Amino acid sequence: MVKICCLGAGYVGGPTMAVIALKCPSIEVVVVDISQPRIAAWNSDTLPIYEPGLDEVVKECRGRNLFFSTDLEKHVSEADIIFVSVNTPTKTRGLGAGKAADLTYWESAARMIADVSKSDKIVVEKSTVPVKTAEAIEKILMHNSKGINFQILSNPEFLAEGTAIKDLFNPDRVLIGGRETPAGQKAIQALSDVYAHWVPQDRIIATNLWSAELSKLAANAFLAQRISSVNAMSALCEATGADVAEVAHAVGKDTRIGPKFLNASVGFGGSCFQKDILNLVYICECNGLPEVANYWKQVIKINDYQKNRFVNRVVSSMFNTVSGKKIAILGFAFKKDTGDTRETPAIDVCKGLLGDKARISIYDPQVTEDQIQRDLSLNKFEWDHPVHLQPMSPTTVKQASVVWDAYSATKDAHGICILTEWDEFRNLDFQKIFDNMQKPAFVFDGRNIVDAEKLRQIGFIVYSIGKPLDSWLKDMPAVA
Ligand SMILES: NC(=O)c1ccc[n+]([C@@H]2O[C@H](COP(=O)([O-])OP(=O)(O)OC[C@H]3O[C@@H](n4cnc5c(N)ncnc54)[C@H](O)[C@@H]3O)[C@@H](O)[C@H]2O)c1
Repeated sequence: MVKICCLGAGYVGGPTMAVIALKCPSIEVVVVDISQPRIAAWNSDTLPIYEPGLDEVVKECRGRNLFFSTDLEKHVSEADIIFVSVNTPTKTRGLGAGKAADLTYWESAARMIADVSKSDKIVVEKSTVPVKTAEAIEKILMHNSKGINFQILSNPEFLAEGTAIKDLFNPDRVLIGGRETPAGQKAIQALSDVYAHWVPQDRIIATNLWSAELSKLAANAFLAQRISSVNAMSALCEATGADVAEVAHAVGKDTRIGPKFLNASVGFGGSCFQKDILNLVYICECNGLPEVANYWKQVIKINDYQKNRFVNRVVSSMFNTVSGKKIAILGFAFKKDTGDTRETPAIDVCKGLLGDKARISIYDPQVTEDQIQRDLSLNKFEWDHPVHLQPMSPTTVKQASVVWDAYSATKDAHGICILTEWDEFRNLDFQKIFDNMQKPAFVFDGRNIVDAEKLRQIGFIVYSIGKPLDSWLKDMPAVA
């Protein structure tokens, strides 16, 4: 029986391995992690992450051919194929701080693999890593190998949170990079055989190692660039009276461009886009390509600009001050159908409003109070380290409260900011909400999900990203 072990039971390691176990009953899959609480949660009825469809998959295979454990050394030493899906945060200090990937967790995983292995292994990079990481990993493994043969493969993960199970069941492509030697090609074949249990052969792409590593960074950079492009247009739409939804629709009808990922919003978030672009920028700089680095940097600058612009709209429309005013925040996760808040634009918007002394009342159907308080008090990039290594009890932000429904969040509020496109926000009773708010009552729709005209008829002053402005807002331009 082929044995797979995955280091890292996070958003990628957990769902990916659960799907491999489901689709390959003849393979034993063990997911291990240095975080004991995370493994305990994977073994419980309340999984550590929320993903539609994940519970069912885990229930079907856990205890059959899917196991979660903290006994890293045992399972690594027994495995034929080892996936490494550990954190690769942005470095916060030292060389490359604020840009380069911190490979501490990866390196310690590689050293442990070298230490405990007694038989040949295929080691698979599942984490997103800088180009040429495989070379460094190879060196660590080879220098400590005691004659064992290690083959390194790059198999980046393209799943999107919120649709992870759907994406894993039916991936656009599975990318496997390996050495162009007979042993490297044999390893690529062994990993393709795993995916071939359910992925059509023409969607399994084999490349060299560096192409696979770079393709992941490139794919995320292209996706984020589309969002920044449409967000940049949204600012121009507001200035000219064009409607960004109409522009995006017209542009997306061009089959060379296509309609996806063209929704204007308060900005992109998630654990990957910013981190991977910063990483790409750093690699370009290290390779003496400052023009290329600056090109990609601009994608992040526009994202920051969009978040600032949103906060400025809120403050300027409310007579240039939100001091002491209650602002309801609807949605904190970085997108709907996930409880993940890593790099969510809500953090920057909330911090911006708190900086102007607002009182904020936050409601998100999936994010806990503890998580929100953590996010508002952690420093940049601290979130991307294993939870048990983060500061234990961050200080509570007193002007931010977390409530359990949209009606309490909005009661007596002066304004509402919609920051996540949860479906339930579309169907709220806005008349009831309006009746319980201070007047004038504002809605700032950072995801363009409410029917602005209907809300205006109720009496709200509405701001929708990239849409023709309410006359109230025209009179109070947001200065960035
Ligand atoms: N989240 C996504 O949507 C996504 C998509 C594609 C790729 N990625 C990449 O995949 C990697 C993992 O991302 P994630 O979202 O699953 O992160 P995560 O923080 O959810 O999970 C990482 C896990 O690795 C564990 N870990 C750290 N060091 C370890 C070690 N030495 N041995 C065993 N376990 C260890 C941590 O405790 C943590 O549970 C990152 O490189 C990320 O960029 C993420």
